[in-house]
Amino acid sequence: MKVAFFSTKAYDKEFMNRVNKQHEHKLTYFDTSLEVSTAILAHDYEAVCIFVNDKANKGTLQKLHQQGIRLIALRCAGFNNVDLKAAEELGIKVVRVPAYSPYAVAEHALAMILTLNRKTHIAYDRVRNGNFSLDRLMGFDMRGKTVGVIGTGKIGQIFASIMHGIGCHVIAFDPYPDQEFEQEGRVKYVPLDEIWKASDILSLHCPLTPDSHYMINEEAIDKMKDKVMLINTSRGGLVDTKAVIKALKYGKIGYLGLDVYEQEENLFFQDLSGHIIQDDDISRLMTFPNVLITSHQAFFTENAMTNIAETTLQNISDFEEGKDLKNEVKIS
Ligand code: NAI
Repeated sequence: MKVAFFSTKAYDKEFMNRVNKQHEHKLTYFDTSLEVSTAILAHDYEAVCIFVNDKANKGTLQKLHQQGIRLIALRCAGFNNVDLKAAEELGIKVVRVPAYSPYAVAEHALAMILTLNRKTHIAYDRVRNGNFSLDRLMGFDMRGKTVGVIGTGKIGQIFASIMHGIGCHVIAFDPYPDQEFEQEGRVKYVPLDEIWKASDILSLHCPLTPDSHYMINEEAIDKMKDKVMLINTSRGGLVDTKAVIKALKYGKIGYLGLDVYEQEENLFFQDLSGHIIQDDDISRLMTFPNVLITSHQAFFTENAMTNIAETTLQNISDFEEGKDLKNEVKIS
């Protein structure tokens, strides 16, 4: 199939081209992201392949449909950036990569927690500048801390198991609790309010939906423990950034680790060094010593990139051959 890839970087091309030797699709890579104004680039193609910050809203989908596009292949797990209702009405199929490496994301969440706790990011800079003092580097033992996990799907379960493994007490909330997982004894499901009240560390592993948008807001933060650590490796829109900045300023939130950010599409995956950052909220966040931001890199391991390429191209081949689309995303 002729496939137009949007928002591509050198590493996308490298992994896709390597795996495509078995599929022989005709792949064209565009650096630009997909939105209404760039949909025209797909005029000579049969499918488009997009990533987390491409915007497949109704207007974009209508344009793509007019140009003959019948398949949107997401090379990621989340699909909050696709208007599924519009896609269904237009007869455009949507496929995704449901699990490329849940370990990569869970392990990145752990890396953020340990960095924020033991302040290795600060120690790294200090020692390189000849400062060997321990002032303000004190952390805490992880063992015995209560970790609240929001969303116990593929990533949340691995994360919960890792935290249990290092001696934490793990509680979780999920509207669809996995009873078998709970019976294995590493995690206990509790109501959301108890998660807010009891957690020393909170980690988000649920999708962004209208229900979960801004689940971390002023009301929820008020219920949390003082100096709580909040980690978000899921989607930026789960967190009300302004409420979090306020809570950091008065010390309610003691540590913040963000791999995703609600306005990330204007920032992440780009080298903006030398530019004036126009986003005042992320600029403010970057001034706090107890905030660690990574630019949506939790998934970024060799294993995950290989799995993404294999599943994406297999999804496209399945569509081309009229096979059952096992990774199709439908309105639930
Ligand atoms: P999954 O679909 O396996 O699990 C999601 C879980 O969240 C399900 O058990 C679901 O019942 C639960 N859930 C749904 N609404 C909820 C709510 N309001 N409150 C609590 N739980 C809720 O998804 P998976 O693979 O574990 O991924 C989780 C999220 O991680 C994705 O939605 C995506 O946004 C994010 N992600 C981030 C990556 C990164 O590089 N930072 C890479 C891959 C995924």
